Amino acid sequence: MRTYWSSPKRNLHTDLLWLSRQCFKEFWGSGVTKFDKGGIVPGSLKRLSAQTENIDITMDRHEFLDALEGVKAEFSHYTFFADLYDAMRPKETPKIHPHKLEDWPEERELTAMRYRHREAHGALGLRASQTTEGGYCTLFSEGMKLKGRPGFDGMIAEACSKVYEDEFEHMLVGIAGVAGEGLTDADWKLLETLIVEQLKQRIRMRNAQFSYPLAEERVQAIYRGDIRPLEFDYERAQLAA
Ligand SMILES: [Fe+2]
Repeated sequence: MRTYWSSPKRNLHTDLLWLSRQCFKEFWGSGVTKFDKGGIVPGSLKRLSAQTENIDITMDRHEFLDALEGVKAEFSHYTFFADLYDAMRPKETPKIHPHKLEDWPEERELTAMRYRHREAHGALGLRASQTTEGGYCTLFSEGMKLKGRPGFDGMIAEACSKVYEDEFEHMLVGIAGVAGEGLTDADWKLLETLIVEQLKQRIRMRNAQFSYPLAEERVQAIYRGDIRPLEFDYERAQLAA
């Protein structure tokens, strides 16, 4: 993410492309919650409205509330990035709307991988997907660093900082309660494998979303560990928990 902002590949066209792709993820993204098949916004709304008659019978009211809040958060992220797109687009470029959004091969593969992990490993697969959601918020934390730059960059920074808080919390959902689940050593090993596999695919997904600022050579170097990982922010995690 750090590479993109000052990459020679960056221009208005690549900015509009990543924004529309981010809108796709916020609206149509799938595979990280129990209800988001068919799109985090439309799929979850459909599934949740079908569940209203089961509240407090087969569906816990708190789980329902959490899911509703999740949908609201994702739709507000869609709104931030769609507003940015509409502010940045040239006059002759039409306004954005959900049915114009498209995924891309690397994103499609990430989603397919998450469903494969859930199918093969059930709750553990879902937990891996929840933990990797947002990829430790790197788009948003690096986007926030554009703060103070003139023009659209300042606006990108503002949108990213609004999304950052929510996404940090979503990632914690994947971590919350894991100690109480009685995972065996083999479960932990498997969870690690699934998470690393998803995070590797996330690098490909983002690299494509941002018009390939990283060469394949650099992607391979990152895979080999030639990158300083961000430190986990325990203080923020506690505040958000
Ligand atoms: Fe989001």
